[in-house]
Amino acid sequence: MGIRIVGIGSYTPERVLTNKDLEKMVDTSDEWISTRTGIKERRIAADNEFTSDLAVKAAQRAMEMAGVSPEEIDVITVASITNDRVFPSTACFVQKKIGAANAVCFDVQAACSGLLYSLEVANNMLKGSSKYKTFLVIGAEKLSTIVDWQDRNTCVLFGDGASALLLKKTDDDKECILSTNLGSDGNYTDILHLPAGGSAMPASHETIDQRLHYLKMGGREVFKLAVNAMVSSCHKALAEANVKASDLAWLVPHQANLRILQAVAERLEMPVDNVYVNVNKYGNTSAASIGIALDEMLRGGKIHKGDLILLTAFGGGLTWASTLLRWC
Ligand code: UT7
Repeated sequence: MGIRIVGIGSYTPERVLTNKDLEKMVDTSDEWISTRTGIKERRIAADNEFTSDLAVKAAQRAMEMAGVSPEEIDVITVASITNDRVFPSTACFVQKKIGAANAVCFDVQAACSGLLYSLEVANNMLKGSSKYKTFLVIGAEKLSTIVDWQDRNTCVLFGDGASALLLKKTDDDKECILSTNLGSDGNYTDILHLPAGGSAMPASHETIDQRLHYLKMGGREVFKLAVNAMVSSCHKALAEANVKASDLAWLVPHQANLRILQAVAERLEMPVDNVYVNVNKYGNTSAASIGIALDEMLRGGKIHKGDLILLTAFGGGLTWASTLLRWC
């Protein structure tokens, strides 16, 4: 028995918000955003387009690529920090909208590392039980709803989007996921978080007046922790599979900031041409970013059978993750 990624899909909303547009909203400049982050523009979902709607469009594209019908799907997970509602899960909304009547549905909360955490869940549920054969992993975010559009430190960084990976058990013994390294450090819960709206600080007039329903981040500290955590996690995932960084066809990092991507690549001694970058077009789409990159790469003919691809992510929690794939 093997496990393969049989379909990938992604969706980014139509509306483009450029750095020039942001210049009219906060005290910033295209020059500052471009040089500090590499971001030129990001996508913003429509008011009536929810996280589950973005997820559905990505999922439908993945199902279409794989030739898998909704009824065949056994499990759906959605990784997100911008769920449609606190509960029920966004995965249940997706289930209803795509008509996946036979699926078990739940959300995965690991911030920007959510897609890779979900892949580990999928890999183990598929391997561990004969009940599950087809698994739809989704990362979807409508970050524009939790970004403080008055805070120049954060609002220039994020965008909306979704991606979906469809995994299937196969009869051969080809393993698509060669190794996974996951990590978390709860000592840093306060450097990247959304303070209010949970049980620790329920919504009140005060929380609204103090703008506590928006994402807060200590950017500089997160930057350093992100580089160190991703590099160390990549080394562990490579070592577990006995693969060297020089054997990789691609490094696909979570698209947070071009400077973070470059620092990680340099420390792994990966040539920049083998590091996939699209943060310029979408900004940071959190749990969706790696899947959007993989979808672009696959449909753009950049991934070939046998390629070794290392995915790595970092996000709130703190959480980090690396997944080594052999494309098959
Ligand atoms: O998804 C994972 C989580 N997120 C991340 O990975 C993001 C990690 N952090 C970063 O990407 C970077 O730290 C930022 C892009 C957030 C900031 O870049 P930086 O080079 O670390 O800048 P900084 O925080 O050191 O700030 C430099 C200056 C500050 O001014 P002062 O205090 O030096 O006078 C900021 O107030 O830049 C100022 N600044 C801005 N100026 C113009 C901050 N945001 C802006 C802005 N436009 N949008």
